[in-house]
Amino acid sequence: MGKPLEIKDLKALAKRRVPKMFFDYADSGAWTESTYRANEDDFAKIKLRQRVLVDMTDRSLATSMIGQPVSMPVALSPTGLTGMQHADGEMLAAQAAEEFGVPFTLSTMSICSIEDVASVTRKPFWFQLYVMQDRDFVINLIDRAKAAKCSALVLTLDLQILGQRHKDIRNGLSAPPKFTPKHIWQMATRPGWCMKMLGTQRRTFRNIVGHAKSVTDLSSLSVWTSEQFDPRLSWNDVAWIKERWGGPLILKGILDPEDARMAVSTGADAIIVSNHGGRQLDGAMSSIGMLPRIVDAVGDKIEVHIDGGIRSGQDVLKAVALGAKGTYIGRPFLYGLGADGKRGVTTALDIIRKEMDITMALCGKRNIADVDRSILLDA
Ligand SMILES: Cc1cc2nc3c(=O)[nH]c(=O)nc-3n(C[C@H](O)[C@H](O)[C@H](O)COP(=O)(O)O)c2cc1C
Repeated sequence: MGKPLEIKDLKALAKRRVPKMFFDYADSGAWTESTYRANEDDFAKIKLRQRVLVDMTDRSLATSMIGQPVSMPVALSPTGLTGMQHADGEMLAAQAAEEFGVPFTLSTMSICSIEDVASVTRKPFWFQLYVMQDRDFVINLIDRAKAAKCSALVLTLDLQILGQRHKDIRNGLSAPPKFTPKHIWQMATRPGWCMKMLGTQRRTFRNIVGHAKSVTDLSSLSVWTSEQFDPRLSWNDVAWIKERWGGPLILKGILDPEDARMAVSTGADAIIVSNHGGRQLDGAMSSIGMLPRIVDAVGDKIEVHIDGGIRSGQDVLKAVALGAKGTYIGRPFLYGLGADGKRGVTTALDIIRKEMDITMALCGKRNIADVDRSILLDA
């Protein structure tokens, strides 16, 4: 394959380079994957207005998300096990994002730890928090993120229990991978991935091992994660987490206007309209499908961000036109990482930036700040 020109090209490359169980982990949704598909398909249904004979010089995509400057309104989503798409994946993706001038969000369920990522970056990154039943561990995570000077806490609300993803069960997914003949074969057929993985010590959940009580080895870790996500998490918890954190707070996983209004009342800085990339409630509406209703409900009271199904700069622009102040990409950056490490993440960001820039110009706008529903047909 020649130079990757679209996110699809990076996906095809990643499929060739990443062992099946980890590629499938990224490329999967819950149950029938209908919401996963709808996230992408619903963007294609939105049509742009072509405008002509307007000045297209001096264009700018630079803006801010929660008051922090960004070179374009696209952040990297928190994704678990990123260090299994490519050795040291979180550290490489964070560096690519930093150089590009966009936020990187580190997942609680990352392979590289908060401290690992802090050691290779100069600017603050964002940290995503899953609330576990072990509250001492949660408090410690918040404090570690503060110590690492993370500049936003992204609190995920839509994973109190885990949605079922058939591919992961069939593949027997784990980190580090099991050493059964099937798993050994999947890795042996990806020698480049193996070589890099042998060159790093980071092969398990380093935010957790050595930090959470009773997690000292890997066999106890799998028990711990399946038992630890807190099914009782409530709006009251948001209050104490906000207070303990004391910095900018983003609530992730809002898909309903009623929940969006509740989110406003917490005093959070932003919400992310999200269905977890179609990985939790299959049958839920696509994120882009819900965005207008949520913007109409709370858009003047809180910053509204969105993730799910963004595969091009055109998708970002459509989301911005419908009122999103920021967007996030999950799989597009994971495919870039699996395809070509740090360079692949930069390529993913570059593809999206170019597509957004040209589309904005052809819609007759020069500045992302001027993009609104007027660039859409029948909006
Ligand atoms: C492989 C993978 C792992 C993910 N892990 C997390 C996670 O640890 N925490 C979280 O809040 N969201 C997680 N998500 C959801 C993403 O943050 C984001 O909501 C989703 O990927 C956006 O959709 P997109 O992949 O279509 O861009 C994960 C998504 C994927 C694809």
